[in-house]
Amino acid sequence: MIMSTIWLLTLFSVIYGNSASHYLYRNLQSLSSEYSYDQPYRTAYHFQPAWNWINGPMRYGGLYHVFYQYNPRGATWGNIVWAHSVSKDLVNWTPLDPALFPSQPSDINGCWSGSATLLPGNKPAILYTGIDSMNRQVQNLAQPKNLSDPFLREWVKSPKNPLMEPTSANNIDSSSFRDPTTAWLGKDGQWRVLVGSLRETSGTALLYKSKDFVDWVQAEQPLHSTLGSGMWECPDFFPVLSNGQLGVDTSLNGDHVRHVLKASLSAKQHDYYMIGSYNATKDVFIPDNGTNQFVLSYDYGKYYASKTFFDDGKKRRILLAWVSESSSSADDKKKGWSGIYTIPRTIWLHKSGKQLVQWPVVEIEKLRAYPVNLPPQVLKGGQLLHINGVTATQGLQEYTSISFRIFRHQHKYLVLLCSDQSRSSLNKDNDLATYGTFVDVDPLHEKLSLRTLIDHSVVESFGGEGRACITARVYPTLAINDKAQIYAFNNGTVDVKITKLNAWSMKKAQINRN
Ligand SMILES: *[C@@H]1O[C@H](CO)[C@@H](O)[C@H](O)[C@H]1NC(C)=O
Ligand SMILES: *[C@@H]1O[C@H](CO)[C@@H](O)[C@H](O)[C@H]1NC(C)=O
Ligand SMILES: *[C@@H]1O[C@H](CO)[C@@H](O)[C@H](O)[C@H]1NC(C)=O
Ligand SMILES: *[C@@H]1O[C@H](CO)[C@@H](O)[C@H](O)[C@H]1NC(C)=O
Repeated sequence: MIMSTIWLLTLFSVIYGNSASHYLYRNLQSLSSEYSYDQPYRTAYHFQPAWNWINGPMRYGGLYHVFYQYNPRGATWGNIVWAHSVSKDLVNWTPLDPALFPSQPSDINGCWSGSATLLPGNKPAILYTGIDSMNRQVQNLAQPKNLSDPFLREWVKSPKNPLMEPTSANNIDSSSFRDPTTAWLGKDGQWRVLVGSLRETSGTALLYKSKDFVDWVQAEQPLHSTLGSGMWECPDFFPVLSNGQLGVDTSLNGDHVRHVLKASLSAKQHDYYMIGSYNATKDVFIPDNGTNQFVLSYDYGKYYASKTFFDDGKKRRILLAWVSESSSSADDKKKGWSGIYTIPRTIWLHKSGKQLVQWPVVEIEKLRAYPVNLPPQVLKGGQLLHINGVTATQGLQEYTSISFRIFRHQHKYLVLLCSDQSRSSLNKDNDLATYGTFVDVDPLHEKLSLRTLIDHSVVESFGGEGRACITARVYPTLAINDKAQIYAFNNGTVDVKITKLNAWSMKKAQINRN
């Protein structure tokens, strides 16, 4: 982006190590022997293990279910099953036995990603990608064996699998045909589902229709495709209210909703979305504004393969994503695990209609302890304000800074949110990238706000009340456990007023430990 800029100031920002308190440290001491060796990077309230992508999150029987790609035989890709965990509150998770594992010719080489749909009568159905005996990507169906079991422990695969497959007639590339979405029901009584694909350089959301969820027919044209965007993984397609924060069922359409189409661009390893309308007569997605380029991202840091689901209990749409490591594979092997999930985020359309807003689910706040509330105060240029943690003697040898920068551009101000990992670790084997994005706020008329969730090796930041999100992985060697501290700083020359500053230590959640 070329623009003439005048650097004004760096506004209220925080620096910290990786966990904010003694509390987390004490808990780390009491872990089972499996984790008793030094694990400063193991997260305390972010879901793990999450070897890979998120599959079919949903709410059923009063429980939240997530499934995830997992290799039960080791820390490498292969033997992929659908591991399964359930939660009452989206904070604490209990592991169950894998829900799906290779067992049929249509998935004998792996059960890859997919989505859950609730059929009429509250009956869950999973559509997922199987790697068949010829190593082709095909789409399969599985349904619960016992609907009275809220844990949905056992799943039965359709004897008609695969239900969608690449053929010479449909000209689908058998290595680019995966990740079915949650299906939606049209007014004509037919189900529709998208499958991510690639046609030459165009990323594509192939559309399939079915009356009974078993016999699927490919529509003549895809729901949408974008020239040059490369393979679309994990597509997601859902309505949001034009006005309001409540989530709505995936099948809803009408004047009062807008539609969101999201694709995980394999080439960029990034999740992008467009806002537009869904013309149900033509079965096409029409992006607002006639722009057909991916500009908006859910998250401008490390973030991929996200999926949403509608929480019919609390009437909200929840977004989950996979966050891979930024450490070297040698370090990953040493710590014995790889990958986490973001904190589940509620999402809705911003009142401008131009972008989505994301905010951590409210349940996460029950982990808060030991509040620190600073009185309103002015931060002078160059000032560093200690917020929390025991002041270390080692100084700021390692720090991660989350900051706003304000630029004047013609007669407007532009606000940039940055997450700078370049000094996060003395271990230079890590990916020390710096992330940044503009935040659509007007600093003349609005206060700048920042919320950051810090959990050992992950830092999730929400700027402008959820209008810009950046997730980063950090691996400090000194600023770990009770050595970590939080500061507010003003790195500019003009005074900055802090009107409100709250911090908490986060208690440890119970995640995937029996
Ligand atoms: C179905 O699940 C319910 C609840 O867990 C259980 O009581 C019942 O025995 C199960 N039925 C079968 C046939 O397994
Ligand atoms: C959908 O497309 C059809 C055919 O082009 C058009 O007649 C109709 O007005 C469109 N509907 C909406 C809601 O835009
Ligand atoms: C329309 O597109 C322009 C240019 O990409 C963008 O600046 C603007 O925000 C878009 N408006 C909406 C409502 O999406
Ligand atoms: C503060 O500004 C100085 C000089 O521009 C820069 O070197 C330093 O990295 C900045 N610190 C932070 C935490 O952004």
